[in-house]
Amino acid sequence: MARPSVWLMRDYHDPKIEAYLSEHCEVVVRQSNITPPHEDIVKMASECDGFLPEGIDIIDAEVLDSASRLKVIGNRAVGTDNVDIPAATRNGVILTNTPGILQDACADMTFALLLSFARQVTRSDRAIRAGKWTVFDQTPYLGLDAYNKTLGIFGFGGIGQKVARRAAGFDMRVIYYSRSRKPEAEAELGAEWAGDMETLLRESDYLCLHCPLTDETRGLMGEEEFAMMKPASVLVNMARGPVVQQEALYEALAANVIAGAAIDVTDPEPIPLDDPLLTLENLVITPHIGSASAATFTAMGMMAARSIVAALTGEPVENMVNPEALANR
Ligand code: DGY
Repeated sequence: MARPSVWLMRDYHDPKIEAYLSEHCEVVVRQSNITPPHEDIVKMASECDGFLPEGIDIIDAEVLDSASRLKVIGNRAVGTDNVDIPAATRNGVILTNTPGILQDACADMTFALLLSFARQVTRSDRAIRAGKWTVFDQTPYLGLDAYNKTLGIFGFGGIGQKVARRAAGFDMRVIYYSRSRKPEAEAELGAEWAGDMETLLRESDYLCLHCPLTDETRGLMGEEEFAMMKPASVLVNMARGPVVQQEALYEALAANVIAGAAIDVTDPEPIPLDDPLLTLENLVITPHIGSASAATFTAMGMMAARSIVAALTGEPVENMVNPEALANR
């Protein structure tokens, strides 16, 4: 019987991922580090049984409805907003993601961003390289404290809870708002339920977004929401770019409606170099690297590879996002 075929959609993965896949499947490695053109994704869905994409590769209904071969997508991401899940399900294509293993890396990065803005790390680094460190003068870089401040978390899943755990070390008060209340996590982490979004916005000194991108969260942060935040507060976006209305963010930062923002995600990605956000000094920005410690990067790839192999060899599949797809295979 012919071995199943898997499309590894980038050439930058740890060699052990290709080696593992090769034990069970034919592996087609795409020799590129950028997202594949849509027409290539359509074509490969009729030539391969499995895809190992990044969380920004769009696998839409056109791909899924025309796919004559694709059976499993092992997304190397916890987010799944790049895949049309109803289309995958009706076509019997299993979608898996990588929960559980990236929470600590993302929570570390949340604090890296928060502190970078609060204590002017990236701005002062830029200033030194531009030749501006000529005297001892701290006054251009007077920052904000993190300790004893209120950290607001929107989205209290695995990542949000890991952020709350770290906040305790900074003696921060933690409040959160989420789809559902989590009393056990509240008790364990000393976090308070904000009760509603408005309270979260009004009381947070740092507001961290850790929600998935869904119809409910798209455009969540707009002009009205920024206006409710404290003037000295800071937005940290570790979720997805479209959760924040980017023009409204620019306006809020430019007019000092809030003190600053630290964002790991934008809409679109990569952000165009002429985006006005990049002209602002009160913005810290990183290129969607929230989970990207070397160890976590590889662990996510291996988890995706294991799920693909399990799906193609009839083994139980962990981290299935749409188990209902099994009925349509
Ligand atoms: C994730 O895992 O969802 C990260 O944002 C990478 O896409």
